[in-house]
Amino acid sequence: HDLSRLNTLALQAHARTVVALDRLDAVERLFAQAPAAFVLGGGSNVVLPRVFPGTVALIRLAGIRRLPDDAGDVIIEAAAGESWHGFVAHCVAQGWGGLENLALIPGTVGAAPVQNIGAYGVEVCERLESVTAYDRHAREWVRFTSDASAFAYRDSRFKREPGRWLITAVRFRLPSAWTPRLSYPDLRERPEWRDGAPTPQAVFDAVCAIRRAKLPDPAQLPNAGSFFKNPIVPAALAERLRAQAARMPAWPLADGRVKLAAGWLIEQAGWKGRRLGRVGMHERHALVLVNYGGAERRDVQALADAVVADVAARFGVMLEAEPVQVPAAG
Ligand code: EPU
Repeated sequence: HDLSRLNTLALQAHARTVVALDRLDAVERLFAQAPAAFVLGGGSNVVLPRVFPGTVALIRLAGIRRLPDDAGDVIIEAAAGESWHGFVAHCVAQGWGGLENLALIPGTVGAAPVQNIGAYGVEVCERLESVTAYDRHAREWVRFTSDASAFAYRDSRFKREPGRWLITAVRFRLPSAWTPRLSYPDLRERPEWRDGAPTPQAVFDAVCAIRRAKLPDPAQLPNAGSFFKNPIVPAALAERLRAQAARMPAWPLADGRVKLAAGWLIEQAGWKGRRLGRVGMHERHALVLVNYGGAERRDVQALADAVVADVAARFGVMLEAEPVQVPAAG
């Protein structure tokens, strides 16, 4: 089976067996037959190997339902295979605010908690009520609260234990007392806000416009969003770098460390808009690795290695890849 259309980087990849999981009762059966099966959601945050080891399971579980709530919030559960953006758009259309800053992130609902997707000042863990998952080790069903999911910046227990958890549904709590989150620089100053207090729909529209202006659409230019995490460094290093470049973006964290902008570091290292063979770092956003056509994993690896080496040499900062790297066969 050709998997090149099932990953947004459009890497050349093949698997011997591909199964679609569209019913919950097929989950236990699948892992009994193929204990090492790899689970693929929207394929928007993975670097697939050229030849896939074993079975690939495509998550096609669908459905969105609202649940009753004593506190008057909107509790809503979505099946893992629902499109993330479609789900966000659905909530906004009902007038339910809380997820609008996360509009237009590619991928599925089930993948959202794995890397704790975040954008424009909101992380999904802040809106999350619980995650329903199948534990492939213990062969049992578990429901995790947000606290038990051990969320951190682009991280969770689901990401730290690869191959263990199959997420089948995610429950969200959307606050009845909604206020817009406009703290992120790109969102702060918008002409739309002059007309009065923004609605969830207005914030959603603004986020879509900002993303469309600077991030390439995977359907037109294959990519996996940010290819590296924004590095978190000791305050002393951040200060040293700031002394050399006063305009370097930096966000102090509660624990005293400082988060830097990987996109800025990569641009300064000369990689914005630069190509290496069939891949390159995007011309409008240096953090996004794009496939100009026909690339496979080794092309991505070569470029990522070169970028990491240049940024390390120049700034003493080690970038870490953000998408999940799937082990190759053999
Ligand atoms: N920058 C540059 N050059 C570039 C790109 C960015 O100098 O080529 C600078 C920008 O000017 C800005 C700073 O870097 O001062 C941050 O850039 P931006 O606001 O675009 O956000 P980011 O830190 O690059 C993160 C997330 C995105 C998310 C945006 C908006 C990570 C790894 N990435 O990107 O998430 O959409 O913030 O909140 O945290 C993703 O994870 O796939 C993703 C797209």
